[in-house]
Amino acid sequence: MRSRVLMENLPKASFYTLLLLLWVCAVTASVTYDHKAIVVNGQRRILISGSIHYPRSTPQMWPDLIQKAKDGGLDVIQTYVFWNGHEPSPGKYYFEDRYDLVKFIKLVQQAGLNVHLRIGPYVCAEWNFGGFPVWLKYVPGIAFRTDNEPFKAAMQKFTEKIVSMMKAEKLFQTQGGPIIMSQIENEYGPVEWEIGAPGKAYTQWAAQMAVGLDTGVPWIMCKQEDAPDPVIDTCNGFYCENFTPNKKYKPKMWTENWTGWYTEFGGAVPRRPAEDLAFSVARFVQNGGSFVNYYMYHGGTNFERTSGGPFIATSYDYDAPIDEYGLLNEPKWGHLRDLHKAIKLCEPALVSVDPTLSWPGNNLEIHEFKASGACAAFLANYDTASSATVTFRNVKYDLPPWSISILPDCKTAVFNTARLGAQSSLMKMTAVNTAFDWQSYNEEPASSNEDDSLTAYALWEQINITRDSTDYLWYMTDVNIDANEGFIKNGQFPVLTVMSAGHALNVFINGQLSGSVYGGLDFPKLTFSDSVKLRVGNNKISLLSIAVGLPNVGLHFETWNAGVLGPVTLKGLNEGTRDLAKQKWSYKIGLKGEALNLNTVSGSTSVEWVQGSLLAKKQPLTWYKTTFSTPAGNDPLALDMISMGKGQVWINGRSIGRHWPGYIAHGGCGDCYYAGTYTDKKCRTNCGEPSQRWYHIPRSWLNPSGNYLVVFEEWGGEPTGISLVQRATESVCADIYEGQPTLKNRQMLESGKVNRPKAHLWCPPGKKISQIKFASYGLPQGTCGNFKEGSCHAHKSYDAPQKVSRLLDPFTI
Ligand code: GAL
Repeated sequence: MRSRVLMENLPKASFYTLLLLLWVCAVTASVTYDHKAIVVNGQRRILISGSIHYPRSTPQMWPDLIQKAKDGGLDVIQTYVFWNGHEPSPGKYYFEDRYDLVKFIKLVQQAGLNVHLRIGPYVCAEWNFGGFPVWLKYVPGIAFRTDNEPFKAAMQKFTEKIVSMMKAEKLFQTQGGPIIMSQIENEYGPVEWEIGAPGKAYTQWAAQMAVGLDTGVPWIMCKQEDAPDPVIDTCNGFYCENFTPNKKYKPKMWTENWTGWYTEFGGAVPRRPAEDLAFSVARFVQNGGSFVNYYMYHGGTNFERTSGGPFIATSYDYDAPIDEYGLLNEPKWGHLRDLHKAIKLCEPALVSVDPTLSWPGNNLEIHEFKASGACAAFLANYDTASSATVTFRNVKYDLPPWSISILPDCKTAVFNTARLGAQSSLMKMTAVNTAFDWQSYNEEPASSNEDDSLTAYALWEQINITRDSTDYLWYMTDVNIDANEGFIKNGQFPVLTVMSAGHALNVFINGQLSGSVYGGLDFPKLTFSDSVKLRVGNNKISLLSIAVGLPNVGLHFETWNAGVLGPVTLKGLNEGTRDLAKQKWSYKIGLKGEALNLNTVSGSTSVEWVQGSLLAKKQPLTWYKTTFSTPAGNDPLALDMISMGKGQVWINGRSIGRHWPGYIAHGGCGDCYYAGTYTDKKCRTNCGEPSQRWYHIPRSWLNPSGNYLVVFEEWGGEPTGISLVQRATESVCADIYEGQPTLKNRQMLESGKVNRPKAHLWCPPGKKISQIKFASYGLPQGTCGNFKEGSCHAHKSYDAPQKVSRLLDPFTI
């Protein structure tokens, strides 16, 4: 009523202004798209996005991660939604702690960034079971990710649950929230291609179901060439420059630019050079791409038993721009930040016109975006070995191999993807506590007995029995040996052969470990085959079958088995080979220590622990416990598990994940030159060493003192070799090149003055530069931490940095 009166009293001109304002407001809350870009609030945007999966870090880490993403030039944070974390049993939802999705999204909003919410609910992501709750597999008549009613009903229910939560919290952009787009399914195209008609029907259904939820913001489907309108199909991969969406009026979007790759137990640790990553982005943008998401921007940790695979490591560092511990991975983070600044300077031209192309020479390409009032150019050299000089608008530009220079005014090269202006940082794990006071408790292998309740004359599939409540399932049987057996006299023990669908197996004969075998990511199946010491009379065979994460990808991955499925045979008896598979087997789910909750202080009192000279060493099935105080400061913490084999670790009752330093990284590592097409096999580290040695302990899980640390060791290890370490920057390095384009050149855009290239070195908060280890003006060789003088070296190279370091910190040379 009141506003009406006010309006009536307004002079006519103001009335129109008010109307206009109202109209502008209506446009403000909208996300649409056209062939150039996502259009936010009526404006086409070049959007830089990064994946941070909320349960792979802690709520205490989120604000800092988000801030670092913002400082790195991101506009959007992308995350999957993890169904099995949110609905651990049907209809029982969990949205607390690391699974507090609403809190995570609100923090992103508070930082002024947008969200791309990938609801899935299939997510892949190297996450246990690809994000599906294990109970879903046991819904009668279900088949995952196809035209199947029980599956579609469950998927719709969960998707609706998430969308209505987001709506209730006003988190969609049209409600004033940060979510500017969502995703349904994940990389379904290749599955549809394999399964045909039901796959096609499912795609149509999924798209329609999602669009029907009326979120007000666009939906995307990645790797889905036939994504039905209005859903946008997008690209995933190491490179996406040649991708085109399925309709002319959809923008060219890259939902997963893999910043590195995941680590598997038994695999080397992948690294992707920052130069190549930046090159891939510049190449995509010059070809008309307007949305790039880094998968991962922060990879984090697969805490508890959340890693999939099987055999995905606990660390999900991914060589992402922010490392597993939340520290900047330099030069990658800084190089991308510089790239983003350069791209943003080009934004007005990029969103206005399509580029014109020219080819000044072999392997050379120029993309020019010439709009009214704006001009941007990308000069590219695709040659993997040779530098090139390109003349553009009568100016000569030097281009290193496999690189792109960005000219936001069509004149000034402010950035080249192969020239690192950002510093490199060498990180170091420093031991802070090597003297844990351990106590041990040795768990006896389970063996069959009269009161076993779970028995069968058959071998059972493991997940069907455990429902993934634990990694462990005992398969137990008896073997009677007659006094007449030939091997008793000749000493040639019979050979026990056990075939298992995976993933790892400890074989115990009469309580003694006879061997441990395990599969790998490419081949989870395993076979134990060895002579076993049997005695006359009754023998107890106990097989501990161990799951190492459920599969997250592959056709019908939900049907893949785990556990001892046979054959199980004993060869070398008088009768020849005895088939054990059909005899009586007893089953026991989980370990005794799990049932007793030895990972908690209260549970631990239920058994007798020993210490000192009695401390168990190199013994399988051993629980270790100790307490420790939290080191001062803020440096991230980890456990160095180098002396251990395989198992799990808990701090204050919470699982920090599976440890498996006993699985050594196979394969070749070799040199890593940035130029040339990257694959996850190309630049790897850790060959011949444990795939994962360090295990992140979030600081927020600790108390100042009396932290309760429990390790369960399956194989046998040396607990005194475990240490608490903290992670910090050890050295920082920077390269500068004569004639190097730098972002400082941006000032040229306004002032017309040339800047000399500068190296800018900085230490993280609380740290100081204490020493100059290496300086060379000339042709130095090597990488950060490993430099040496080259064929040309000025003997006064140290003068300038030393002079500056006395004056400043951080300092600029
Ligand atoms: C993609 C998938 C992601 C992740 C990635 C590999 O195909 O969409 O979820 O699994 O591969 O890290």
